[in-house]
This record gives sequence, C-alpha cells and structure tokens, in this order.
Amino acid sequence: MKPNALRLTLLLLASSFAATLAPAQKLAATPPMGWNSWNYFAGRVTDKDIRDTADLLVSTGMRDAGYVYVNIDDTWEGKRDAQGHITTNEKFPDMKALSDYVHSKGLKLGIYSSPGDQTCARYEGSLGHEYQDAQTYADWGIDYLKYDLCGFGKKMKADAPNDLPKQNQMMRDAYMLMHKAILKTGRPMVYSLCQYGFDAVWDWGPEVGANLWRTTGDINATFDRMAVIGLNQDGLEKFAGPGHWNDPDMLEVGNGKFNAAENRFHMTLWAMLAAPLLAGNDLTKMTPEVGSVLMNKRVIAINQDPGGHQAHRVYQEGPIQIWARPLANGTTAVAIFNTGEDTHYLRNISIPLDKLGFSKAPHFTDVWANQELGRLDAKYKPTLPKHSAILLVLFP
Ligand code: GAL
Repeated sequence: MKPNALRLTLLLLASSFAATLAPAQKLAATPPMGWNSWNYFAGRVTDKDIRDTADLLVSTGMRDAGYVYVNIDDTWEGKRDAQGHITTNEKFPDMKALSDYVHSKGLKLGIYSSPGDQTCARYEGSLGHEYQDAQTYADWGIDYLKYDLCGFGKKMKADAPNDLPKQNQMMRDAYMLMHKAILKTGRPMVYSLCQYGFDAVWDWGPEVGANLWRTTGDINATFDRMAVIGLNQDGLEKFAGPGHWNDPDMLEVGNGKFNAAENRFHMTLWAMLAAPLLAGNDLTKMTPEVGSVLMNKRVIAINQDPGGHQAHRVYQEGPIQIWARPLANGTTAVAIFNTGEDTHYLRNISIPLDKLGFSKAPHFTDVWANQELGRLDAKYKPTLPKHSAILLVLFP
C-alpha cells in the first residue's frame, strides 16, 4: 500500500472505531494508563507521595506519554463519621484538596475500596455504604475506582457456607451494586474490578459495568511472577476490547531487581496483552533506562491500539514463545519472548507467517530498535538473551 493510502485507511479506521463505541466504552476506549501507589509504596503511601508523583508524571513526560490516572490504592481510609460518611486517615488530610491538585496538573485521580467491611489491609470497606461512598468519591472528584473483593470473601463464606454458586452470585451482586452507585452519582469513573479472576470474571465483568478486571492474584517485582502472570493470559483475548479489559495487574517496571531486558520483556508483554498500563514505580528514583521503557511511544501505541485486540500465543517451543495481535491499521504486532535462563537464537524456529495470514514475506520493523528490517523470512534469526523479548510490526 502507498504511504498516503495507508494513512487514509488509518484515519478512516480510527474514526469509524470512535463512532461505533457506546458511551460507557468511551471511558476506557483504550486500556487505562496511569500510576498506582501499591506496588512500590504499599501501606506507606501519603498525600505527599501522591503530590510528588503528580508533579513527576508531568516533569518526566509520563503524563504526555499517556499516564494520566494517579491511583491511590489501599490505606487512605479513615473511620466513618456519625452520618456514615467515609473519612480519610491522617496520611491524607484533605482528599478534595489533593484531588484539585492532581486535576490542576492535567491528571485524574483514582481511589480504592472493597465491597467488604474491610479492605485487604484491614481498613474500612464500603459494605452497606455503597451509594454513600460513591457519592463521596464523586464529591471529591474521583475519576477511577478499584474495588477489591477482600473483606467481602469473608461474608460470602459466612452467608453461603459451602455453596460456591451462591457465593459467586453474591460477589456479582456486590460488584453490580457499586456500579449502580457510581452511575447514580452521574460522574464518570473508570470501574476496576479486583477479585483475582474468581468465577471467570472476564465472562461477566462487562455486565456489572467493569472497564477492567484483574485476571490473577497479585504480581510482585520478580521476573518469574510477572512472566507467569503475563504468559498465562492466552485464551482470554476474546474477552477484551474497547471499554472492557483483562487486567494482569499493575506494572513492576523499575521495581525490584528487574534488569533492562526484563523491564522491556514486561512492557512488551503488557503492550501485546492490551493490558492497563499502571506504572508502579517510585518516580522520584526513576532512571533514564526505566523512563525510556515506560515512555516508548511505539510500544505504547501498540498497547493503545484502537482495535483493542489482545494478543494470543501463536507458537511455543520450550522457553521461546511467539505472540501476535492484529492492529487497527492492518499491520500485525509480533513479540518473541525468551523466558529461559540462556541466550537463544531460534535455531529451527521461525515466525509462523502463514498462521498470521501472510502468504509472502512481509515487511517488518523492530519496535524497540526503531528500525526497518526489510522483508521477514525464515532467515530471520535474532539472538534473544536470557529473559528478553523482541517486538516487531509486520505489514504486507
Ligand atoms: C490486594 C490487591 C492489591 C492491592 C492490595 C491492597 O488484594 O490485589 O493490588 O490493592 O490488595 O491491600
């Protein structure tokens, strides 16, 4: 295709996608991007950390790269006042003022609660106060709610002992209740379900208004945990799309002992999975290397592709896995992962082009290297060091 014709097709495709989106989907038409306090700060997070993060999202260029949600996770909650309104604890003296500050930076503010009496960190949950809490969030100017099952699990077991179907129904009802409560406020809020994938949440998440739902237990800052979670998402691709996303948990890029190859592996996999990109690192200590991984425009564009097609695995041989996703402009993103402990050069492996719909050798670019590589055929034998990934875009 000539460059101009390609550009025109791209434009037409993008505008037809926007036109066909239902209003609820417009809120998370592409996977939400931002930052969340849990992976690095956990229970220590304070008002100051959130303000510092907001400042740094702007000064590092993260906001302009798309990271707009600043999400306060668990441990902001205080007790309820005499009328039952939720209050903040001493770490967050004035949530409305904090929200105004975050908004003044061109960012959005997210918050966290649980359908149970208590959150995972044993702070006050929303049980019995759903409408009141949603209204409080709306009054504060909250734009995003992560709603974490935690304490509600206790209630499910107590109210329906040994009755899993009934427990699951209680769980759905609880998520539906908060969805209705958010709708009643009239304030758009991204609705993020966190119940670790129980009862195949991807099957019913959209029905309870979810824009995203966690598909697994918690990630942590180790390569193995990240890789197990990300590479286990195969088969869930049919449940993701504009407005409703599988969430393999927040990014650990820049946390723990992730090295440069591992940070790229993580970012490549999350981009391929059309996963929400919620950075979880301490921005006051972000190295240029970590910044360049989180802010790579071409990688982000794949994650944010308006088609919203989550990748699936097209080939695996031991530690080597190849994943692919179609992009809205007719090109195909392909990632090759080496999960192993040694360098690999693909030996007898080549990208299964026929499976990807190419009858002859396509053109291709290496996304991280930002390099056009000519035509892709069986001679392409890149070297993949331990725990590394290659990200390509293929086009006729
Ligand atoms: C977990 C959740 C984490 C974090 C934590 C807070 O259940 O999966 O992402 O929110 O609770 O206590």
